[in-house]
Amino acid sequence: GRTFYLTRHGQSEYNLLGKIGGDSGLTPAGTEYARRLAQFAKEQIIHKDGVERPCRLWTSTLRRTKQTAQFIEHNKFEHMWDNGEKFEWIQLRRQERRNLDELYAGTCDGMTYKEIEEVFPEEFARRQDDKLAYRYPRGESYMDVTLRLEPLAQEMERTREPVLVVGHQGILRILYAYFMGLDRKEAPYVSIPLNNVIELTPHAYGCHEKRYCLMM
Ligand code: F6P
Repeated sequence: GRTFYLTRHGQSEYNLLGKIGGDSGLTPAGTEYARRLAQFAKEQIIHKDGVERPCRLWTSTLRRTKQTAQFIEHNKFEHMWDNGEKFEWIQLRRQERRNLDELYAGTCDGMTYKEIEEVFPEEFARRQDDKLAYRYPRGESYMDVTLRLEPLAQEMERTREPVLVVGHQGILRILYAYFMGLDRKEAPYVSIPLNNVIELTPHAYGCHEKRYCLMM
């Protein structure tokens, strides 16, 4: 059946510095993850049980997710009909989705949590009180992100092909909670570590989950 694969981008420059948001590129470790993800996609997603199958690959519009997907190739296949006509199809469609961009931290974008606590202590405290509803000044809340992801989650449910989503921590928490049927309040705390692929296979109520750690 149809399966979803969720992964964060590889380690970014901002991850290394402990800064949130931004549009930084990958570190060497992040690039290594991108290579391993390409291998994983080839062996576990595109080629499953010895057959090739069409797949979708979605990234956000941010550099770190596009760089993480960079080694996953478009596989083009050719078929020759009996009448000599050639027919081509692409096994993997790569698409950029703006609603997969990370929760926007507004005024706090590019800061570390320590800096936010020092510069905006009330904001920091308010977020700890209600992480789901808290909206960054000039930015977004998890609730905002839930709303903008709903059409995308519904599209994933309608898609017959497996979908590999290369996204961000906040975004993937919401998608994960949606597919696993978690309570909204729990979503902002779901553990989505770097360097892992989460495989979700929908069944009647919820999903079967399997996690693949591609590097430590
Ligand atoms: O630190 C990586 C990151 O994706 C940030 O860009 C984002 O603001 C944050 O994680 C989301 O996690 P939390 O909501 O726990 O701060």
